[in-house]
Amino acid sequence: STLATVVVAVDGTSGSGKSSTCRGVAGRLGLRYLDTGAMFRAVTWWMLQHGVDVHDPDAVAARAGEPVLASGTDPDGPTIAVDGVDVSAAIRTEEVTRAVSPVSTVPAVRARLLAQQREIIAPPGGPGGGIVVEGRDIGSTVWPEAEVKVYVTADPAARAARRALEEGGSDVAATEQVLRERDRIDSGRATAPLVQADGAVHVDTTPYTLDEVIDLLVDLVERTLAPT
Ligand code: DC
Repeated sequence: STLATVVVAVDGTSGSGKSSTCRGVAGRLGLRYLDTGAMFRAVTWWMLQHGVDVHDPDAVAARAGEPVLASGTDPDGPTIAVDGVDVSAAIRTEEVTRAVSPVSTVPAVRARLLAQQREIIAPPGGPGGGIVVEGRDIGSTVWPEAEVKVYVTADPAARAARRALEEGGSDVAATEQVLRERDRIDSGRATAPLVQADGAVHVDTTPYTLDEVIDLLVDLVERTLAPT
């Protein structure tokens, strides 16, 4: 396989630096980029907007077929729209962040997004191009045949410190609590939980800078695609 068709599956815990890493890797290699977390966030935003009780799985499932998503795959400016409204910024609020893990446990939500994710990775109409896909279940469920699979983790305290800094000095202990709670729900759910997929390379990013992790993954992709 080549850069024109490669699928790089990157799964991992919340706040491990996955998004910045994946965008960097896609940018360096000229690949598309899909943030599947943004898709779950957009559905969550839509549920909140429509007054659906996000902690009632039946209520969420009943409306899972309604929101219409559109994902932009440019790593330099990824976008997400729902029902024609750009929600790229709106999905990053604390309210959405708190509600997204419970919404993501609902099988009807996962089934709908799974079909859409596969269509973006390999558009039925023709060549989509190689892609870096980030999430929790990409290597295990969405695209098990991915040529490159990475499982990214980082020490929770380090993640919290980084995230609190990004969020402009919010409380580190509280941030760590929220990250741990999301990890607990994401790893413990029945349908497509966060796991290290078969064949995935585990990268603990704790000791590395963002640029170092990007270098490491670019190397991994290039070595995987190199003719032997
Ligand atoms: O990567 P993120 O923090 O934006 O993801 C938000 C939530 O979406 C995450 O807590 C769990 C869910 N998610 C998922 O269940 N499966 C994916 N492939 C991606 C995200």
